Amino acid sequence: MHYFNYHDSTLFCEEVALPKIAHDFQTPTYVYSQKTIERHFKAYQAGFGNQDHLISYSVKANSNLSILKLLAQLGSGFDIVSQGELFRIIKAGIPTDRVVFSGVGKTEDEMKYALQHNILSFNVESESELLRLNKVAGELYQKARVSLRVNPDIHPQTHPYISTGLKENKFGIPIAEAYGLFEKHAALPHIDWVGIDCHIGSQMLSLDPILETAQALKKMIRFLETKRIHIQHVNLGGGLGIAYHGEEPPSPEQYLKNILECLSPLRLKVIVEPGRTIVGNAGILLTRVLYLKKMPEKNFVIVDAAMNDLIRPTLYQAHHEIWPVVQTTQKPLNVDVVGPICESGDFLAKSRKLACAEGDLLAILSAGAYGFSMASNYNARPRAAEVLVSGMIPHLIRPRESLEDLIRGEL
Ligand code: LLP
Repeated sequence: MHYFNYHDSTLFCEEVALPKIAHDFQTPTYVYSQKTIERHFKAYQAGFGNQDHLISYSVKANSNLSILKLLAQLGSGFDIVSQGELFRIIKAGIPTDRVVFSGVGKTEDEMKYALQHNILSFNVESESELLRLNKVAGELYQKARVSLRVNPDIHPQTHPYISTGLKENKFGIPIAEAYGLFEKHAALPHIDWVGIDCHIGSQMLSLDPILETAQALKKMIRFLETKRIHIQHVNLGGGLGIAYHGEEPPSPEQYLKNILECLSPLRLKVIVEPGRTIVGNAGILLTRVLYLKKMPEKNFVIVDAAMNDLIRPTLYQAHHEIWPVVQTTQKPLNVDVVGPICESGDFLAKSRKLACAEGDLLAILSAGAYGFSMASNYNARPRAAEVLVSGMIPHLIRPRESLEDLIRGEL
């Protein structure tokens, strides 16, 4: 969290004091540090060195157009999972030939849209999808560039909702079947085989499962070579974890050093799809304390952000650090930090030591990934504003939704 620091007891994002952002744009507001995003992206670039590669930022982590544009300028590619995400890439003015399209349930319309925009590759997740894509591409007199997403049945050692590479998960093609599938469909008329990919889970803190996966992909590629099926890229997906609460994940450089030792000898383009490591610790959710409420069993700090703004604590039991925006010397109390939503699951933190008063500002840390992008309008709450700080300048990159926004299109 290099670029979120206290100066004279006040928390800053780069060179902007957070109380100024609260004053100018109100709360709750997501605040992102441009320098942090750049630093994280460049760490991946440095880790790749001379290796032919594409860093395909996973759009689902944070899909604000300004963030996509920033990453595109740094040379990023993009991993998408829907037509909507491709639409965002197009609206951001980004060339679509750096886009890979994952997801188990692509519709024909989505396939057409992506074919028309000539994306780099479809990460295909089942035989049925492959055949459907072959048909859709045929109707457009095109060839679809395809990478097969394999499921290696390797445990990512992470939360069950974000594990994707186990045989009981819906993702990818079991690796044992993938071998046969390649051979069986090597000559489909509207399919151009370009790669193999994989994504076994998210918030991984150990390199072991990732390396095991890289080995499995390498073995498969060597097998394909013996069958004279030559692909162009190997894509290891995303999933590297970040520090939310003292965890010590490997750095992007360490991660890449290890996987490249395994994959470089293949002489293929290596793709990764990081999301969380690029934007997670580049963002905070700025919120204001509405009320302090003492109940017989608990002290509640009721803030103006809620589970509709940041669902990770209640959905994944995720821990997000909470810092006072202005440090005090008051004695901290043991509190639950909760939002105004009518659900007991509406909490942002439980049993924290925190000193704050009504009207104070709090920063919920590590909220740049899967924060705004998972936000909803539940309880008819307009979604938060988003601000991207660059040096001394806070850019409003998405205004707070209005009440009118809430009912747009409804009869
Ligand atoms: N590639 C694919 C195919 C994915 O499904 C994902 C994430 C990524 C890349 C990026 O993974 P990352 O580097 O961000 O770990 N909402 C959850 C995370 C869900 C991740 C889904 N897939 C959370 O808030 O923890």
